Amino acid sequence: MKLVGTVKDLQKELMQASDTAGVGFVPTMGALHEGHLALVRRAVAENQLVVVSIFVNPTQFNDPKDLERYPRTLENDLKLLESTACHIVFAPSVQEVYPKPDTRKFNFGMLETVMEGKFRLGHFNGVAQVVSRLFDMVQPQIAYFGLKDFQQLVIIKNMVKQLGLPIEIVACDIVREKSGLAMSSRNELLSAEQRENAALISQTLFAAKQLSTQKNVQELANWVVDTINKNPFLDVEYFEIVDDEQLQAVNNWNEENTKVGCIAVFCGKIRLIDNIVFN
Ligand code: PAF
Repeated sequence: MKLVGTVKDLQKELMQASDTAGVGFVPTMGALHEGHLALVRRAVAENQLVVVSIFVNPTQFNDPKDLERYPRTLENDLKLLESTACHIVFAPSVQEVYPKPDTRKFNFGMLETVMEGKFRLGHFNGVAQVVSRLFDMVQPQIAYFGLKDFQQLVIIKNMVKQLGLPIEIVACDIVREKSGLAMSSRNELLSAEQRENAALISQTLFAAKQLSTQKNVQELANWVVDTINKNPFLDVEYFEIVDDEQLQAVNNWNEENTKVGCIAVFCGKIRLIDNIVFN
């Protein structure tokens, strides 16, 4: 496994590895956990050459405190990545990714005005900036993203289409802790007590899936919010049941599309997201 920090070194490694090998790519912000490792292992199983990037992207943080708090654990990340047999780890500096400020404005229409896009203004523009920069540097054929960030996945697929990039986007299942809590780098910022209580988020989503045959969409949405908000450690920012393509609110279970319940919850100062597919 090679660690590189510059585009020049990355390109040297890519050229040396082979000029025929297809490149699989897993972009991350580090603070790796089993969820990331599952993406990397899948990429390793499906590609001859795998690049993992570790870069905490400042342009996607709408809250400077959140950026400051974001865990940075490069040494441990490298140890974890060794066990996956990935080939290249690209850990660039901010200067390397953005030699000058990225002023591009993407337009994702309705996809970015709901949920994360509504509560984290500018977040998806920052994600699109960095992912498109990284795609440009790594030139992958396939890139792997987790379904936990469901809206991000839909937006990245849209960006790839808009930019006409020949990259396949692969969606990978959410990996959960034993309690059901969706794995996230942010879980490390929770106290033991908070982490225990945060398991109620996924437990409520699983129960909601069972209850969806008994309650209409609005009743179920209210039930999810009330159930989680009854826990003094948790505060729901939004829970929306949307279709999986346009991310628009679903009003009726009979609508002919896949429905996904997406949630963001504050546990103290830490903001957690999760989702569940209803059909
Ligand atoms: O999902 C993430 O970790 C980040 O948003 C990504 C895709 C690595 C871009 O910084």
